[in-house]
Amino acid sequence: MKVLGIETSCDETAAAVVSDGVRILSSVVASQVPTHEKYGGVVPELASREHLRKIRPIVEEALRQAAVSLEQVDALAVTEGPGLIGSLLVGLVYGKALALALGKPLVGVNHLEGHIHAVLLENEMAREDDPSLPKTDLPAVTLVVSGGHTSLYLVESLRRDGASVFSYKPLGQTRDDAAGEAFDKVAKLLALGYPGGPIIDRLSAFGNPAAVDFGRIKMKGNPLDFSFSGLKTAVLYRVRGTGLAAEAEERRAWRKTAGRVTIDDVRAHCSQATLDLVASFQRAVVTDLVERTLAAAEKARVQTILVSGGVACNSLLRRQFAESARSCALRAFFPSLALSTDNAAMIAAAGYYKLRAGLRADTSLTAHASFPLGV
Ligand code: KG4
Ligand code: ZN
Repeated sequence: MKVLGIETSCDETAAAVVSDGVRILSSVVASQVPTHEKYGGVVPELASREHLRKIRPIVEEALRQAAVSLEQVDALAVTEGPGLIGSLLVGLVYGKALALALGKPLVGVNHLEGHIHAVLLENEMAREDDPSLPKTDLPAVTLVVSGGHTSLYLVESLRRDGASVFSYKPLGQTRDDAAGEAFDKVAKLLALGYPGGPIIDRLSAFGNPAAVDFGRIKMKGNPLDFSFSGLKTAVLYRVRGTGLAAEAEERRAWRKTAGRVTIDDVRAHCSQATLDLVASFQRAVVTDLVERTLAAAEKARVQTILVSGGVACNSLLRRQFAESARSCALRAFFPSLALSTDNAAMIAAAGYYKLRAGLRADTSLTAHASFPLGV
Protein backbone atom coordinates (compact mmCIF):
# COMPACT_ATOMS: atom_id res chain seq x y z
CA MET A 1 0.00 0.00 0.00
CA LYS A 2 1.53 3.31 -1.09
CA VAL A 3 0.46 6.17 1.15
CA LEU A 4 0.95 9.82 0.24
CA GLY A 5 1.54 11.76 3.46
CA ILE A 6 1.02 15.51 3.79
CA GLU A 7 2.23 17.59 6.76
CA THR A 8 1.78 21.36 7.20
CA SER A 9 1.20 21.78 10.94
CA CYS A 10 3.78 24.49 11.55
CA ASP A 11 6.45 26.00 9.32
CA GLU A 12 7.45 23.07 7.13
CA THR A 13 5.57 22.09 3.97
CA ALA A 14 6.15 18.36 3.63
CA ALA A 15 4.98 15.49 1.42
CA ALA A 16 6.17 11.89 1.26
CA VAL A 17 5.33 8.53 -0.23
CA VAL A 18 5.75 5.53 2.06
CA SER A 19 5.20 1.95 0.97
CA ASP A 20 3.59 -0.53 3.40
CA GLY A 21 4.37 1.71 6.36
CA VAL A 22 8.04 0.75 6.32
CA ARG A 23 9.73 1.97 3.14
CA ILE A 24 10.23 5.65 2.40
CA LEU A 25 10.01 6.13 -1.36
CA SER A 26 10.35 9.90 -1.02
CA SER A 27 10.26 12.55 1.69
CA VAL A 28 10.34 16.19 0.65
CA VAL A 29 10.42 19.05 3.16
CA ALA A 30 10.37 22.76 2.31
CA SER A 31 11.59 24.76 5.28
CA GLN A 32 10.29 28.28 5.95
CA VAL A 33 13.24 29.30 8.12
CA PRO A 34 14.24 32.19 5.81
CA THR A 35 10.67 33.59 6.06
CA HIS A 36 10.48 33.58 9.86
CA GLU A 37 14.16 34.14 10.71
CA LYS A 38 13.96 37.91 10.98
CA TYR A 39 11.07 37.68 13.44
CA GLY A 40 12.87 35.14 15.67
CA GLY A 41 9.81 32.84 15.61
CA VAL A 42 7.07 31.48 13.36
CA VAL A 43 4.57 34.12 12.17
CA PRO A 44 1.33 32.13 11.66
CA GLU A 45 -0.11 34.23 8.82
CA LEU A 46 3.15 34.10 6.86
CA ALA A 47 3.37 30.36 7.48
CA SER A 48 -0.04 29.64 5.94
CA ARG A 49 0.73 31.81 2.91
CA GLU A 50 4.00 29.94 2.37
CA HIS A 51 2.19 26.59 2.64
CA LEU A 52 -0.29 27.76 0.00
CA ARG A 53 2.56 28.63 -2.33
CA LYS A 54 4.45 25.38 -1.75
CA ILE A 55 1.91 22.63 -1.19
CA ARG A 56 1.36 21.72 -4.83
CA PRO A 57 5.02 21.74 -5.97
CA ILE A 58 6.09 19.81 -2.86
CA VAL A 59 3.46 17.08 -3.36
CA GLU A 60 4.43 16.87 -7.04
CA GLU A 61 8.11 16.61 -6.10
CA ALA A 62 7.39 13.81 -3.60
CA LEU A 63 5.51 11.86 -6.29
CA ARG A 64 8.29 12.51 -8.83
CA GLN A 65 11.04 11.33 -6.45
CA ALA A 66 9.03 8.22 -5.58
CA ALA A 67 8.37 7.59 -9.30
CA VAL A 68 4.70 7.18 -8.46
CA SER A 69 1.77 8.87 -10.21
CA LEU A 70 -1.22 10.20 -8.30
CA GLU A 71 -3.28 7.34 -9.70
CA GLN A 72 -0.76 4.82 -8.29
CA VAL A 73 -1.14 6.23 -4.77
CA ASP A 74 -3.37 3.86 -2.75
CA ALA A 75 -4.39 6.26 0.03
CA LEU A 76 -3.64 9.63 1.61
CA ALA A 77 -2.76 10.62 5.18
CA VAL A 78 -2.85 14.23 6.37
CA THR A 79 -1.97 15.89 9.67
CA GLU A 80 -5.16 17.04 11.37
CA GLY A 81 -3.58 18.62 14.49
CA PRO A 82 -2.20 19.87 16.76
CA GLY A 83 -0.60 22.92 15.14
CA LEU A 84 -1.24 26.34 13.68
CA ILE A 85 -4.79 26.26 12.39
CA GLY A 86 -4.14 28.22 9.18
CA SER A 87 -1.12 26.04 8.38
CA LEU A 88 -2.91 22.79 9.15
CA LEU A 89 -5.87 23.72 6.96
CA VAL A 90 -3.71 24.14 3.85
CA GLY A 91 -2.38 20.57 3.92
CA LEU A 92 -5.62 19.09 5.16
CA VAL A 93 -7.83 20.72 2.54
CA TYR A 94 -5.34 19.90 -0.22
CA GLY A 95 -5.22 16.25 0.84
CA LYS A 96 -8.96 16.05 1.22
CA ALA A 97 -9.53 17.52 -2.24
CA LEU A 98 -7.03 15.12 -3.81
CA ALA A 99 -8.62 12.13 -2.09
CA LEU A 100 -12.10 13.19 -3.20
CA ALA A 101 -11.04 13.87 -6.79
CA LEU A 102 -9.15 10.57 -7.05
CA GLY A 103 -11.68 8.51 -5.10
CA LYS A 104 -8.92 7.29 -2.73
CA PRO A 105 -9.19 6.62 1.00
CA LEU A 106 -8.00 9.33 3.40
CA VAL A 107 -7.07 9.36 7.10
CA GLY A 108 -6.25 12.14 9.51
CA VAL A 109 -3.15 11.71 11.68
CA ASN A 110 -2.19 13.33 14.96
CA HIS A 111 1.14 15.14 14.48
CA LEU A 112 2.50 13.68 17.74
CA GLU A 113 1.59 10.18 16.65
CA GLY A 114 3.52 10.96 13.48
CA HIS A 115 6.65 11.87 15.47
CA ILE A 116 6.40 8.56 17.34
CA HIS A 117 6.06 6.66 14.07
CA ALA A 118 9.18 8.35 12.68
CA VAL A 119 11.23 6.15 15.02
CA LEU A 120 9.25 2.96 14.35
CA LEU A 121 9.29 3.52 10.58
CA GLU A 122 13.02 4.03 10.32
CA ASN A 123 13.80 1.13 12.62
CA GLU A 124 11.60 -1.21 10.58
CA MET A 125 13.10 0.09 7.34
CA ALA A 126 16.66 -0.49 8.59
CA ARG A 127 15.71 -3.97 9.85
CA GLU A 128 14.31 -4.93 6.46
CA ASP A 129 17.83 -4.42 5.11
CA ASP A 130 19.59 -5.84 8.19
CA PRO A 131 17.41 -8.12 10.36
CA SER A 132 20.17 -8.39 12.99
CA LEU A 133 19.51 -4.79 14.11
CA PRO A 134 17.67 -4.40 17.44
CA LYS A 135 13.89 -4.07 17.20
CA THR A 136 11.88 -1.25 18.73
CA ASP A 137 10.02 -3.61 21.01
CA LEU A 138 6.75 -2.25 22.35
CA PRO A 139 5.48 -1.31 24.87
CA ALA A 140 7.84 1.65 25.02
CA VAL A 141 8.05 5.01 26.69
CA THR A 142 8.21 7.80 24.11
CA LEU A 143 9.48 11.31 24.58
CA VAL A 144 8.16 13.70 21.92
CA VAL A 145 10.24 16.82 22.28
CA SER A 146 9.99 19.67 19.80
CA GLY A 147 9.29 23.39 19.46
CA GLY A 148 5.63 22.88 20.30
CA HIS A 149 5.62 19.79 22.54
CA THR A 150 7.37 18.02 25.36
CA SER A 151 5.34 14.95 26.25
CA LEU A 152 5.85 11.43 27.52
CA TYR A 153 3.62 8.56 26.38
CA LEU A 154 3.40 4.85 26.94
CA VAL A 155 3.05 3.33 23.47
CA GLU A 156 1.59 -0.12 23.02
CA SER A 157 0.65 -2.09 19.97
CA LEU A 158 -1.82 -4.89 19.58
CA ARG A 159 -3.04 -6.94 16.67
CA ARG A 160 -6.67 -6.51 15.70
CA ASP A 161 -8.05 -8.43 12.68
CA GLY A 162 -4.52 -8.91 11.37
CA ALA A 163 -3.61 -5.21 11.63
CA SER A 164 -1.40 -3.40 14.17
CA VAL A 165 -3.26 -0.88 16.27
CA PHE A 166 -1.32 1.53 18.47
CA SER A 167 -2.42 3.02 21.76
CA TYR A 168 -0.90 6.04 23.48
CA LYS A 169 -1.20 6.73 27.18
CA PRO A 170 -0.09 10.22 28.26
CA LEU A 171 2.36 10.03 31.19
CA GLY A 172 3.48 13.64 31.46
CA GLN A 173 3.79 16.88 29.55
CA THR A 174 5.15 20.38 29.81
CA ARG A 175 3.12 22.79 31.88
CA ASP A 176 4.56 25.84 30.12
CA ASP A 177 7.24 26.06 27.42
CA ALA A 178 8.21 23.14 25.23
CA ALA A 179 11.94 22.30 25.39
CA GLY A 180 12.51 23.48 21.79
CA GLU A 181 10.67 26.70 22.57
CA ALA A 182 13.02 27.28 25.52
CA PHE A 183 16.04 26.75 23.23
CA ASP A 184 14.57 29.19 20.70
CA LYS A 185 13.72 31.84 23.32
CA VAL A 186 17.15 31.69 24.97
CA ALA A 187 18.80 32.00 21.55
CA LYS A 188 16.57 34.99 20.78
CA LEU A 189 17.39 36.63 24.12
CA LEU A 190 21.11 36.24 23.40
CA ALA A 191 20.72 37.20 19.70
CA LEU A 192 22.31 33.96 18.55
CA GLY A 193 19.98 33.31 15.59
CA TYR A 194 16.94 31.26 14.62
CA PRO A 195 15.96 28.51 15.17
CA GLY A 196 17.86 28.47 18.44
CA GLY A 197 18.09 24.72 19.13
CA PRO A 198 20.66 23.77 16.50
CA ILE A 199 22.68 26.95 17.14
CA ILE A 200 22.85 26.41 20.92
CA ASP A 201 23.70 22.76 20.27
CA ARG A 202 26.73 23.73 18.17
CA LEU A 203 27.87 26.66 20.31
CA SER A 204 27.67 24.54 23.47
CA ALA A 205 30.61 22.45 22.22
CA PHE A 206 32.78 25.50 22.99
CA GLY A 207 31.35 26.26 26.45
CA ASN A 208 31.71 24.74 29.89
CA PRO A 209 28.41 23.02 30.83
CA ALA A 210 29.36 23.11 34.51
CA ALA A 211 29.98 26.88 34.55
CA VAL A 212 26.45 27.79 35.71
CA ASP A 213 24.61 25.52 38.12
CA PHE A 214 20.92 25.96 37.34
CA GLY A 215 19.96 23.24 39.81
CA ARG A 216 17.36 20.59 39.16
CA ILE A 217 13.89 21.54 37.88
CA LYS A 218 11.43 20.72 40.65
CA MET A 219 7.87 19.63 39.86
CA LYS A 220 4.97 19.51 42.25
CA GLY A 221 2.35 16.90 41.47
CA ASN A 222 3.14 14.59 38.54
CA PRO A 223 6.94 14.04 38.55
CA LEU A 224 6.75 13.13 34.85
CA ASP A 225 5.58 16.63 33.88
CA PHE A 226 8.06 19.21 32.59
CA SER A 227 8.55 22.94 33.08
CA PHE A 228 11.16 25.02 31.27
CA SER A 229 9.93 28.57 31.78
CA GLY A 230 11.73 28.92 35.14
CA LEU A 231 15.01 27.88 33.54
CA LYS A 232 14.48 30.38 30.72
CA THR A 233 13.85 33.13 33.32
CA ALA A 234 16.99 32.06 35.22
CA VAL A 235 18.98 32.61 32.00
CA LEU A 236 17.32 36.01 31.59
CA TYR A 237 18.40 37.08 35.12
CA ARG A 238 21.94 35.83 34.44
CA VAL A 239 22.08 37.92 31.29
CA ARG A 240 20.71 41.01 33.04
CA GLY A 241 22.86 40.53 36.10
CA THR A 242 26.21 40.00 34.39
CA GLY A 243 26.39 42.52 31.59
CA LEU A 244 25.94 39.82 28.95
CA ALA A 245 22.95 41.92 27.86
CA ALA A 246 25.17 44.57 26.26
CA GLU A 247 27.08 41.85 24.43
CA ALA A 248 23.78 40.41 23.15
CA GLU A 249 22.70 43.86 21.90
CA GLU A 250 26.00 44.24 20.03
CA ARG A 251 25.42 40.85 18.47
CA ARG A 252 21.86 41.85 17.52
CA ALA A 253 23.14 44.98 15.79
CA TRP A 254 25.87 43.00 14.01
CA ARG A 255 23.39 40.34 12.81
CA LYS A 256 21.07 42.99 11.35
CA THR A 257 23.72 44.07 8.86
CA ALA A 258 25.74 40.86 8.51
CA GLY A 259 23.39 38.93 6.16
CA ARG A 260 23.99 35.17 6.09
CA VAL A 261 26.36 34.13 8.86
CA THR A 262 28.01 30.84 9.79
CA ILE A 263 28.14 29.27 13.25
CA ASP A 264 31.84 30.23 13.40
CA ASP A 265 30.90 33.89 12.79
CA VAL A 266 28.38 33.71 15.66
CA ARG A 267 30.92 32.04 17.92
CA ALA A 268 33.48 34.75 17.11
CA HIS A 269 30.92 37.28 18.40
CA CYS A 270 30.35 35.39 21.70
CA SER A 271 32.38 35.81 24.87
CA GLN A 272 33.41 32.70 26.78
CA ALA A 273 30.82 33.65 29.43
CA THR A 274 28.03 33.47 26.81
CA LEU A 275 29.28 30.12 25.49
CA ASP A 276 29.45 28.80 29.07
CA LEU A 277 25.93 30.04 29.75
CA VAL A 278 24.38 28.32 26.71
CA ALA A 279 26.29 25.10 27.40
CA SER A 280 25.04 25.11 31.01
CA PHE A 281 21.47 25.85 29.88
CA GLN A 282 21.59 23.02 27.35
CA ARG A 283 22.89 20.62 29.97
CA ALA A 284 20.10 21.57 32.38
CA VAL A 285 17.40 20.95 29.72
CA VAL A 286 18.93 17.69 28.53
CA THR A 287 19.49 16.33 32.05
CA ASP A 288 15.85 17.03 32.91
CA LEU A 289 14.54 15.38 29.72
CA VAL A 290 16.69 12.28 30.18
CA GLU A 291 15.98 11.84 33.88
CA ARG A 292 12.21 12.16 33.59
CA THR A 293 12.10 9.81 30.60
CA LEU A 294 14.15 7.19 32.46
CA ALA A 295 11.89 7.59 35.49
CA ALA A 296 8.87 7.04 33.22
CA ALA A 297 10.46 3.90 31.75
CA GLU A 298 11.15 2.57 35.21
CA LYS A 299 7.62 3.33 36.39
CA ALA A 300 6.04 1.75 33.31
CA ARG A 301 8.49 -1.19 33.52
CA VAL A 302 9.49 -1.02 29.85
CA GLN A 303 12.85 -1.70 28.26
CA THR A 304 12.46 0.53 25.22
CA ILE A 305 12.64 4.31 24.94
CA LEU A 306 11.75 6.19 21.75
CA VAL A 307 12.83 9.83 21.40
CA SER A 308 11.48 12.00 18.60
CA GLY A 309 10.75 15.61 17.55
CA GLY A 310 13.09 18.45 16.57
CA VAL A 311 14.98 18.53 19.89
CA ALA A 312 15.83 14.84 19.33
CA CYS A 313 18.46 16.23 16.93
CA ASN A 314 20.37 17.58 19.93
CA SER A 315 23.78 15.95 20.11
CA LEU A 316 24.07 16.05 23.92
CA LEU A 317 20.56 14.60 24.28
CA ARG A 318 21.49 11.69 22.01
CA ARG A 319 24.75 11.07 23.87
CA GLN A 320 23.20 11.33 27.32
CA PHE A 321 20.27 9.05 26.40
CA ALA A 322 22.61 6.46 24.90
CA GLU A 323 24.84 6.46 28.01
CA SER A 324 22.03 6.45 30.57
CA ALA A 325 20.03 3.81 28.70
CA ARG A 326 23.09 1.56 28.54
CA SER A 327 23.71 1.85 32.26
CA CYS A 328 20.03 0.99 33.00
CA ALA A 329 19.92 -1.91 30.46
CA LEU A 330 17.37 0.00 28.38
CA ARG A 331 17.37 0.60 24.64
CA ALA A 332 16.96 4.17 23.36
CA PHE A 333 15.96 4.73 19.73
CA PHE A 334 16.08 7.97 17.76
CA PRO A 335 15.07 8.78 14.19
CA SER A 336 17.67 10.10 11.74
CA LEU A 337 18.13 13.88 11.95
CA ALA A 338 15.94 14.34 8.84
CA LEU A 339 13.06 12.42 10.38
CA SER A 340 13.40 13.96 13.86
CA THR A 341 12.10 17.31 12.67
CA ASP A 342 8.74 17.75 10.94
CA ASN A 343 8.29 15.61 7.84
CA ALA A 344 5.47 13.81 6.02
CA ALA A 345 6.99 10.30 5.96
CA MET A 346 6.05 9.95 9.62
CA ILE A 347 2.47 10.99 8.81
CA ALA A 348 2.24 8.49 5.95
CA ALA A 349 3.62 5.71 8.21
CA ALA A 350 1.21 6.46 11.07
CA GLY A 351 -1.63 6.74 8.54
CA TYR A 352 -0.78 3.36 7.00
CA TYR A 353 -1.62 1.50 10.23
CA LYS A 354 -4.90 3.39 10.60
CA LEU A 355 -5.84 2.56 7.02
CA ARG A 356 -4.92 -1.10 7.53
CA ALA A 357 -7.15 -1.11 10.60
CA GLY A 358 -10.01 0.13 8.42
CA LEU A 359 -10.13 3.76 9.54
CA ARG A 360 -11.34 6.27 6.93
CA ALA A 361 -11.94 10.01 7.19
CA ASP A 362 -15.00 11.47 5.53
CA THR A 363 -15.59 15.00 4.29
CA SER A 364 -16.14 16.21 7.86
CA LEU A 365 -12.40 15.84 8.59
CA THR A 366 -11.13 19.16 9.86
CA ALA A 367 -8.08 20.70 11.52
CA HIS A 368 -7.62 21.10 15.28
CA ALA A 369 -5.14 23.58 16.77
CA SER A 370 -5.28 21.64 20.02
CA PHE A 371 -5.48 17.88 19.55
CA PRO A 372 -4.32 15.80 22.53
CA LEU A 373 -3.01 12.33 21.78
CA GLY A 374 -4.34 9.35 23.67
CA VAL A 375 -7.01 10.97 25.80
O1 KG4 B 1 9.64 18.87 15.44
P1 KG4 B 1 9.98 20.25 14.95
O2 KG4 B 1 10.59 20.36 13.57
O3 KG4 B 1 8.71 21.18 14.94
C1 KG4 B 1 7.76 21.17 15.93
O4 KG4 B 1 6.83 20.31 15.89
O5 KG4 B 1 7.93 22.04 16.84
O6 KG4 B 1 10.94 20.92 16.06
C2 KG4 B 1 11.50 22.20 15.92
C3 KG4 B 1 12.22 22.52 17.22
C4 KG4 B 1 12.74 23.96 17.31
O7 KG4 B 1 12.38 24.50 18.55
C5 KG4 B 1 14.25 23.80 17.21
O8 KG4 B 1 14.99 24.80 17.86
C6 KG4 B 1 14.45 22.45 17.86
O9 KG4 B 1 13.36 21.66 17.40
N1 KG4 B 1 15.73 21.82 17.47
C7 KG4 B 1 16.75 21.58 18.34
C8 KG4 B 1 17.81 21.05 17.59
N2 KG4 B 1 17.40 20.96 16.27
C9 KG4 B 1 16.12 21.44 16.23
N3 KG4 B 1 16.83 21.78 19.68
C10 KG4 B 1 17.99 21.44 20.28
N4 KG4 B 1 19.06 20.94 19.61
C11 KG4 B 1 19.03 20.72 18.28
N5 KG4 B 1 20.08 20.22 17.63
ZN1 ZN C 1 6.70 18.40 15.12
